[in-house]
Amino acid sequence: MRVLVTGGAGYIGSHTLVELMGQGHEVCVVDSYANGSPEALARVQTLSNGTLEAHEADIRDTDRLTTIARAFAPEAVVHFAGLKAVGESQRQPVEYYDVNITGTLSLLRAMEAAGCPRVIFSSSATVYGEPVYLPYDEAHPTAPTSVYGQTKRMAEQILTDWAAARPEAAVMLLRYFNPVGAHPSGRIGEDPQGVPDNLMPYLAQVATGQRPYLQIWGDDYPTPDGTGIRDYIHVVDLARAHVAALDRAAAVTGAEVYNIGTGRGSSVREMLDAFSRAVGRDLPAQVMPRRPGDIAEMQADATKAATQLRWKAELDVGDMVASIWTWQSANPKGYRT
Ligand code: UFG
Repeated sequence: MRVLVTGGAGYIGSHTLVELMGQGHEVCVVDSYANGSPEALARVQTLSNGTLEAHEADIRDTDRLTTIARAFAPEAVVHFAGLKAVGESQRQPVEYYDVNITGTLSLLRAMEAAGCPRVIFSSSATVYGEPVYLPYDEAHPTAPTSVYGQTKRMAEQILTDWAAARPEAAVMLLRYFNPVGAHPSGRIGEDPQGVPDNLMPYLAQVATGQRPYLQIWGDDYPTPDGTGIRDYIHVVDLARAHVAALDRAAAVTGAEVYNIGTGRGSSVREMLDAFSRAVGRDLPAQVMPRRPGDIAEMQADATKAATQLRWKAELDVGDMVASIWTWQSANPKGYRT
């Protein structure tokens, strides 16, 4: 298929390009490079056959997006472009609503102008909010607790309403759990700007000596070792879920929602120990008070993706930490080296 990828130069976007191109899809990237890098695209090109067309553009620029979409004539869009930091979203709500909501509306206008009926959307398990029960299945109530989560939930609603109004449309809403890891080549990976908020990129910088120690945000949660439990998913598995969703979107119409996780949870201490084993020494850590807004535990029920998309995660925590270490040790400053 001809696939337009917004935000293709970012972390999940770049890994998805490799999988799409590996399956013979033709791709065209639109990225503002606000949180992605042209270097990531250059490296995707070296890992892939086929040519990678890329345009520097802001998805809110509807005229430009429409021109690009009309020229490329995509059969489907994978929509990653958006802002994604929970803490920042609380301080800059207008910016988050503008990029994530105005951007999605702008994309739909460009898709309509180009006659494209399919979109795979990068959503998040954060739309669920506080667990009413675990593991979360797709029917769990949605009650996001951050502006970021609200923008994902609202964009899901917009896309669902769009599909309801167009009999030919197919919308796949993918709710990611905690994406981690890197391509096994070590050529592409996660390249956070500034101090990483998330556990694994932070730990990766502890391993290279850029940070003195991991701060464990609380060890008094009601979990076996007291630290928070998450459903970490290897970014390569996550990338493959998009290819599976694209196949599904070619065969069905309407809007569908899928959890994309492994169905298994790991604690902060388990991730720290696994990463220490990959690096070959004990990484330093200190227990700190809980981080405001964190929940004790979250895990996916990923059976719907297994049955409908015929996709399931195949890589384990060992693969996740090994690939992060391969990437981080070869690129301690990410793409800025
Ligand atoms: N943690 C630490 N120290 C750190 C960073 C994190 O102990 O320096 C702990 C957290 O307290 C939590 C776990 O590691 O228990 C995971 O935290 P992350 O920040 O890596 O991930 P979150 O689960 O908080 O959030 C992530 C994404 C969000 C997304 C959410 C749900 O960052 O964008 O998953 O999908 F919304």
